[in-house]
Amino acid sequence: MLGIFSKKIALKDELEGFVDIHNHLLPGIDDGSQNIEESLALIQGFKDLGITRFIATPHVMNDYYPNTPETIGEALEKLRNAVREKGWDDIRFKAAAEYMMDQSFLEVLQNNQILPLISNLVLVEMSFFQPPINLHEIIFALQSKKYQPVLAHPERYAFFHSRKMEKYVELKTRGCYFQLNVLSLTGHYGKHIQEAAFALLDLDLIDYLGTDTHQQRHLEKLHDIKLPQKRIDQLRPIIARTAATFGEAFQ
Ligand SMILES: [Fe+2]
Repeated sequence: MLGIFSKKIALKDELEGFVDIHNHLLPGIDDGSQNIEESLALIQGFKDLGITRFIATPHVMNDYYPNTPETIGEALEKLRNAVREKGWDDIRFKAAAEYMMDQSFLEVLQNNQILPLISNLVLVEMSFFQPPINLHEIIFALQSKKYQPVLAHPERYAFFHSRKMEKYVELKTRGCYFQLNVLSLTGHYGKHIQEAAFALLDLDLIDYLGTDTHQQRHLEKLHDIKLPQKRIDQLRPIIARTAATFGEAFQ
């Protein structure tokens, strides 16, 4: 069946003025950009899409990327200086982090070393192999400190997939917000991840959108995403909510 039903729309046209709340653009502190040059090239790619505001979210993962507010602050300062030298006055950066919900995360929390996305919202992730056995305890500990978790790429946790997505509904009732990765809407992470992304959209469970950009290839794919009108209609309010909620960080 061809015709108007098969018409696809470029997602990039919807993203102008977006605030990217999940990316690995800070140089040299995780598996994203490895140096200033790479960071600047990625920012140029975002500029081409009309995206100029970023909340940088390097991994904080005890065994691999033991970042702290200090390491993140230093990388942010380096990048801001390089952006200034480029004369890119329109580019704005805030620093936060993407926290792996492991044992050391509870220590970071107890030591009041959390860098939230904005006010009380904290970006968290878990292993792609299994959820933390104390997931509910971690969520409760966050909330005890007046934070709310924003779960990064919920669609990528295959162990939670089910026909009715009950686990996701449960996590929402526990106060989790969900941040979908843009590239999950393509086959980038696999077909079952794409299906889960669509299922979460159909159930109206997604709160925010993020790019999770690590490298140039991700941006190239993002540039080319085309989706049916139905998906664009589902994404529009999520894009608007993301920009409205996190745009305040740049006021
Ligand atoms: Fe990430």
